[in-house]
Amino acid sequence: MADLVVGIQWGDEGKGKVVDALAKTYDYVVRYQGGHNAGHTIVVNGQKIALHLIPSGILYPHCKNVIGNGVVIDPSALLQELEPFESLQGRLFISDKAHIILPYHSMLDKAKELHKKDKAIGTTGKGIGPAYTDKIARSGIRMADLRDFGALEQKVANALKEMQVLQDRYDFVLPSLDSVMSGLESSAKVLLPFVCDTTQLLWNAQESGKKILCEGAQGSMLDIDHGTYPFVTSSNTTASGACSGTGLAPRDISDVIGIAKAYCTRVGNGVFPTEDFGQSGEYIRQRGAEFGTTTGRARRCGWFDAVAVKYACRLNGCTSLAIMKMDVLDGLEYVKVCTAYEYNGESITYIPTDYENAKPIYTEFSGWDSVAGIRDESALPPNAKAYIDFLEKFVGVRISLVSTSPEREDVIMR
Ligand code: GDP
Ligand code: IMO
Ligand code: MG
Repeated sequence: MADLVVGIQWGDEGKGKVVDALAKTYDYVVRYQGGHNAGHTIVVNGQKIALHLIPSGILYPHCKNVIGNGVVIDPSALLQELEPFESLQGRLFISDKAHIILPYHSMLDKAKELHKKDKAIGTTGKGIGPAYTDKIARSGIRMADLRDFGALEQKVANALKEMQVLQDRYDFVLPSLDSVMSGLESSAKVLLPFVCDTTQLLWNAQESGKKILCEGAQGSMLDIDHGTYPFVTSSNTTASGACSGTGLAPRDISDVIGIAKAYCTRVGNGVFPTEDFGQSGEYIRQRGAEFGTTTGRARRCGWFDAVAVKYACRLNGCTSLAIMKMDVLDGLEYVKVCTAYEYNGESITYIPTDYENAKPIYTEFSGWDSVAGIRDESALPPNAKAYIDFLEKFVGVRISLVSTSPEREDVIMR
């Protein structure tokens, strides 16, 4: 069976840390959606590694890492990320069906954002939306296309022609066909040896009893269908994406591990009911080093939204939950949890489509001194334990892991 790690909030929950910690006991780690908009951090003995496209199992020599068909790949970004690693032949596999982010996709992404002014989504500017747009419009270019440069040149020429109208509308300058082709040529030399049919690879692995862990990117509230549309990313970040983005079937998936912070953050624009604009929000931002792994932007910070987490757990069918960054709340006099919303004069515990009209109703808890580095549940201060127990009960999903520092080993397994 395959298991799945999925973000439950608005991304940056600590998926990288959990996938790395779990990967010790898996044979394959598979990314299934998103692209280098993701930034997954792993910390081992004080050394920090930020991964964007490479799956978070890469630090274990025994672990095979797969970039599935649902991922959109910027070849030059992937080349750059591969640089520090020694030969990954036999340890990295890239789907021949994965779509390619071309230079004009990121240009269009940034130009459209500028054009939207105060209505901007706050994208990472990596070209994710435009690349998925081409995929859905059935005019995208895939990794398999790198195998035939003659045909590829024609496809890129056609795409550039289609883009001309957008170039004029959004006021940016398209790259020349030659420059796009020469970029692709140098990437293809390095990347093609990794390109294969990863669906068949995963089916074979499963048939021979190998353990597979799927690694989600972004978070459930950024899902194109179930998130806070239009302030979302352009893929299905929830569990369903793991099937479409790998070729595994729903019944191949066993455990679904939802990852949430002990509080909540969001990068970019869009509704965020529990955002704290005061001292507590700033305290969390500084203690949690809440600045984007990919763009360096300050993350918006606020309280744990238990209603939204419950919704996301239902969407994903979470079998367990990991609560990350408990130590960031250390030293606060009180911590708050959103347990309902005030909406049209009523108290509700669901997410309305006009979510921006929902105002949080909080339950308050006494704070604690320190949980930093604790690995044994019995060593938790009683107020921290009460907080975890409350979240578990409210959300209705077992909390199997609590994280108490960025380090790989600093977790409480429950
Ligand atoms: P991801 O995108 O979900 O993988 O998360 P990011 O890597 O973007 O952001 C999570 C950040 O929190 C990273 O800098 C991690 O090193 C860090 N982190 C993860 N778990 C903990 C924890 O329990 N405590 C603290 N203080 N930091 C953590
Ligand atoms: P990881 O995997 C947090 C956000 C962007 C923006 C919206 C759309 O590290 O959790 P996009 O560039 O995808 O079109 O931007 O989605 N976003 C993320 N926020 N973590 C991420 O990834 C994100 N990837 C995209 O900030 O609001
Ligand atoms: Mg991240």
